[in-house]
Amino acid sequence: MNEKLRFSALTLFPEMFETIKNEGVIARAIKNNIIMLESLYLRDFSDNVRKNVDDHPIGGGDGMVLRPDITEKAILSVKNESTYIINLTPSGKIFNNQIAKDLAQKKHILLLCGRYAGYDMRVINKYSHLNLSVGDFVLSGGELPAMCIIDTVARFLPGVLGNKISSQQDSFENGLLEAPQYTHPETFSEMKVPEILFSGNHKKIAEFNRKEQIKLTAQNRPDLILQYWDSLSRQEKSFVEKIWKSGK
Ligand SMILES: C[S@@+](CC[C@H](N)C(=O)[O-])C[C@H]1O[C@@H](n2cnc3c(N)ncnc32)[C@H](O)[C@@H]1O
Repeated sequence: MNEKLRFSALTLFPEMFETIKNEGVIARAIKNNIIMLESLYLRDFSDNVRKNVDDHPIGGGDGMVLRPDITEKAILSVKNESTYIINLTPSGKIFNNQIAKDLAQKKHILLLCGRYAGYDMRVINKYSHLNLSVGDFVLSGGELPAMCIIDTVARFLPGVLGNKISSQQDSFENGLLEAPQYTHPETFSEMKVPEILFSGNHKKIAEFNRKEQIKLTAQNRPDLILQYWDSLSRQEKSFVEKIWKSGK
């Protein structure tokens, strides 16, 4: 088993991390000694009585900027030779499963959660190994993005998910979105679970699910289906083209 992966989150709202520490998959991973999660409170590193950590942007602009000297003190309080530092920012590279798998190989990840107008660029240039965004939208802080990243990375660590198969069948794992899932009751609001799923014929069920995956990916994520295009059979390609032509 891997060495324990340590996550540190630099934040103005350390309590936000308590929820994931105490619930579900992350709580179990902590309990089972697979990950460690600590919050660093940026104000603890402030050098003034009012515990200010921000200042006005130089050159004008909205919002306050987090001071680089205070941020540096916080970073240095936990940084060691294996620390990998990630700055959460809407202007970063978009996070995905492949990045999460790479991060799952690290020993210590420090997540810089911004607030207001974010961190002074100089401290980011000096210390950040990777600037990451969780999508093309702006949140008020980096804590939720940090939690998304911790959760996703943890799912790729051996022993975190009870059943190893479950992450391998998830969306994106084979380049497509996951097929729709059903459970009991067999009929809900006059909608029936597709008959084939009761057949016990694993080959037919796998064919059905693959078609459903292709359909869903073509409808919701044409960008993904285009990346996956060369892996589709001729028949599957014309199925996708038919979906796109029908606009459904
Ligand atoms: C209000 S935002 C600052 C946005 C900044 N003015 C901009 O337009 O790029 C405050 C903090 O939230 C976090 N944040 C907001 N949206 C994010 C996203 N999509 N991905 C990652 N972090 C985000 C960052 O840590 C950021 O420093």
